[in-house]
Amino acid sequence: MEIPELVFVREDQTLLHFPINRAEVCIGSNPTNDIVLPDTSTIPDVAAIIVDRGGGRFRLRDLTDGVLQVNDAGLEGDECDLGPGDVVRMGPYALRLRVKKGDGPRQGFGRTSIMSREDEGPEGASIEFAGNRYLLDPNQPFNVGGHDDNDLRVEDAFASAFHCRVTNQRGRWILMDLGSTNGTEVNGLRIREAELPSPAVVRIGRTSFTFEEATGARRSRESTDDKTALGRFHGMIGQSDALRRVFDLATRLAGSKEPVLIIGASGSGKELVARALHAESPRADGPYLALNCGALTSTLIESELFGHVKGAFTGAAADKQGAFEATTQGTLFLDEIGELPLDLQPKLLRVLEASSVRRVGGTQEIPVHTRIVAATHRNLEELVREGKFREDLFHRLFVLSIRIPPLAERPEDVIPLAEHFIATQSTRPVVLAPDAQAALTDYTWPGNVRELRNVIVRALLMTDGDTIQLRDLQFLQQAFTTRSQDARGSVRRHDERERAKLLEALDMAGGNRAEAARILGVSKSTFHDRLKRYGVPLKFGPRS
Ligand SMILES: Nc1ncnc2c1ncn2[C@@H]1O[C@H](COP(=O)(O)OP(=O)(O)OP(=O)(O)O)[C@@H](O)[C@H]1O
Ligand SMILES: [Mg+2]
Repeated sequence: MEIPELVFVREDQTLLHFPINRAEVCIGSNPTNDIVLPDTSTIPDVAAIIVDRGGGRFRLRDLTDGVLQVNDAGLEGDECDLGPGDVVRMGPYALRLRVKKGDGPRQGFGRTSIMSREDEGPEGASIEFAGNRYLLDPNQPFNVGGHDDNDLRVEDAFASAFHCRVTNQRGRWILMDLGSTNGTEVNGLRIREAELPSPAVVRIGRTSFTFEEATGARRSRESTDDKTALGRFHGMIGQSDALRRVFDLATRLAGSKEPVLIIGASGSGKELVARALHAESPRADGPYLALNCGALTSTLIESELFGHVKGAFTGAAADKQGAFEATTQGTLFLDEIGELPLDLQPKLLRVLEASSVRRVGGTQEIPVHTRIVAATHRNLEELVREGKFREDLFHRLFVLSIRIPPLAERPEDVIPLAEHFIATQSTRPVVLAPDAQAALTDYTWPGNVRELRNVIVRALLMTDGDTIQLRDLQFLQQAFTTRSQDARGSVRRHDERERAKLLEALDMAGGNRAEAARILGVSKSTFHDRLKRYGVPLKFGPRS
């Protein structure tokens, strides 16, 4: 089995191994990229896109003004083929495409198309090290490193003081390298952040420990009402009316057997909504599988979806059950449905109509009762018009739909989300300074919630203290400037305007806060918050 990956090197030091498990890998300085390069003096926003054409074929798209070199020569156009061993240079970085011969796909990594196993719930996971067992708390991050403040302290000169962290995110255990010097490996694969399969051997420096999740562990489900009342819904955070409508709709549609189509921009939370639909449904105790229709070749998707019989094609060594059969009591999430190859579209439609599946190369009809949830960031109507998506399949899938608005349309969600990410990513209490809050709220978030999460993760690594300042939102500001406006300038101007309004109202009210709040038409508490947020001097303070 071939596992393609990108190996990143700077000054002979290997920085990162990145498994190519998606249709496109974007590289550049902007935090919305899949691989973010910190050195922005030479690397533009998006420097390159590696496109997985399937079957071990790749294509490099150069989005710079000729900065990229392939095998020490400039490109002739904007694109070229990329094969195993080819080296792309971008500024101080070199990137090598590697196709490793492995012993099959490793669970959760590499070119495995089934991205999540059955949702086990967060309970019952543990780490075993040197004969000791550490139980993991799904609400607390678990830190590992050389420093005394870690939950697991290792004596290893090759491990960093704060090396890596395990957290539970919506029922999945995620391991994150905290920028360690020597990196973190999971089952022999170097990662920056990855879902932990169970069991997993994690290696940091010269130390190894094992992670294991108890089978059958299930989260006790709170009622939906309790969750949405708190602006939470199956791991989703959101207080805006727009997102509450999404929660409501998901609750109502969860009981139906009809397919649901989730539409939303990249990073807006489509996968979380798909999981919530499953968790809310009567099938919650059945299996949930996710399959990315854009990540594999047509042949592979077909066998992943429908299974195959022994000898159906080269490499089909035994009968194999497909995702439809595996989820007949559960939910199958078809991510990036817009990328489903045209030749497979009628086959999918047939299964949906007939409620039965025939394995590739097989003759037997096997009944299936799978509930389909599909997602796309593309405009499917347009794809239909362009002849890239079949109209009959479109109508079959588009019976019920949920549209997730981009984060820019729901600014009320930004700070609660940012605080949620701080709480799940940091061991110490950290708050957001007023100017940082203003900058986060004002930003347009082209990469949506995923980008917000990345910005917070980096800010936490930038700050040593208990407050994230505007200056710690380094990547955010770079993204701002690339949008041809000076972020700091625009935030400053916004702050100055707000502050002037507050001072003017206080002035008119003779310093009486309640009166000033009334003049501005806001509540007293909002007014007080704004005084604090925009740093209005205390001499206006005591009277109210
Ligand atoms: N409302 C939310 N509350 C908490 N976390 C969220 C929310 N929305 C998105 N996220 C987080 O943001 C990241 C992106 O979400 P998700 O993967 O569901 O997006 P997506 O729409 O499937 O994106 P893509 O189209 O790129 O696959 C994830 O880390 C997810 O946990
Ligand atoms: Mg997704």
